[in-house]
Amino acid sequence: MSYARGRIALFVAVVALFAGVAVARRAPAGDRQQPLPMSHKRHIAKDMKCRACHQGVEGEAMAGFPTLADCMDCHKTAQGREPAEPEVRALAARSQELAWVRLNRLAGHVYFSHAAHVTMASMKCEECHRDMKAVDQAPSQPDVHGEMSECVACHRSKHASLDCLACHK
Ligand code: HEC
Ligand code: HEC
Ligand code: HEC
Ligand code: HEC
Ligand code: HEC
Repeated sequence: MSYARGRIALFVAVVALFAGVAVARRAPAGDRQQPLPMSHKRHIAKDMKCRACHQGVEGEAMAGFPTLADCMDCHKTAQGREPAEPEVRALAARSQELAWVRLNRLAGHVYFSHAAHVTMASMKCEECHRDMKAVDQAPSQPDVHGEMSECVACHRSKHASLDCLACHK
């Protein structure tokens, strides 16, 4: 067996071992609460870009989440009249960082890059995620299913890489 085939066979065996773990990992994050009830709809209606809060999304693998300092750029002073709004300043006064709950998470053996899709392939967020400008309450379920067949179907139709080791580490 060649070195390359040996490497792929070993890789498949390792992945098969972890496939069982993946099922447990998919348990819905449904009842876990976000630290603040922030409305995507209201912020996007004020012309905020996704990258203002998800700062890695154009240049890095991870989109990332905003820090309280990012929020305080505007919320140092009161914004709008929603009852939850003063909570931003209250948290900042207690110097408490925001522990956002992450919903979408591929298995650890898969590599995904936002920069490759958003910047190099010029894809819109809505090609994979729900339309956030209509989302008023924090979603509780992931919106990217992350099945290999979905990734591969698009990669095949757009002539992107089908190499196992492009997506698997
Ligand atoms: C004002 C900051 C802000 C802006 C602007 C913003 N987001 Fe978010 N986003 C967040 C925060 C905070 C969370 C986590 C809490 C929540 O869902 O409310 C989040 C969560 C998400 C998630 C769920 C991620 C996961 O897997 O847990 C997606 C998808 C998302 N945002 C996409 C977008 C898109 C697309 C845009 C632009 C159309 C956008 N966001 C604009 C702050 C923002
Ligand atoms: C560019 C300025 C700006 C930034 C940055 C910003 N906000 Fe806001 N935020 C606003 C404005 C303007 C409103 C009022 C919107 C309205 O009432 O229609 C608002 C409203 C809110 C409210 C009241 C409920 C709601 O969502 O409308 C909360 C809570 C809130 N923001 C949390 C956050 C958090 C958390 C962050 C950081 C992740 C953040 N904001 C970042 C401008 C901003
Ligand atoms: C090709 C599909 C695709 C596109 C396009 C895409 N995403 Fe994602 N997104 C994913 C996948 C898959 C994950 C889970 C990644 C992981 O676990 O490594 C994810 C995770 C996230 C997360 C949570 C984890 C992280 O990376 O911080 C946020 C926030 C997010 N996406 C925001 C966005 C925004 C904003 C855009 C548009 C600017 C966008 N995504 C475009 C597929 C996509
Ligand atoms: C709707 C289409 C689409 C979907 C869905 C999609 N991709 Fe892609 N992906 C692309 C395109 C197009 C490129 C090529 C970007 C470039 O290089 O111009 C790409 C590039 C990549 C790259 C960089 C490859 C390299 O050559 O370095 C990785 C890694 C990747 N995708 C992983 C994934 C994974 C994992 C998933 C599923 C969770 C996924 N993609 C889903 C269209 C898609
Ligand atoms: C475009 C990205 C991509 C390519 C190319 C790719 N995979 Fe995957 N693969 C994934 C994703 C995404 C998953 C599901 C991860 C999860 O469950 O979170 C996966 C899962 C798997 C699994 C675990 C079982 C399962 O279906 O969940 C095996 C085994 C696997 N891949 C083998 C391969 C082999 C062998 C190749 C090359 C012939 C390959 N993959 C090419 C993205 C890819």
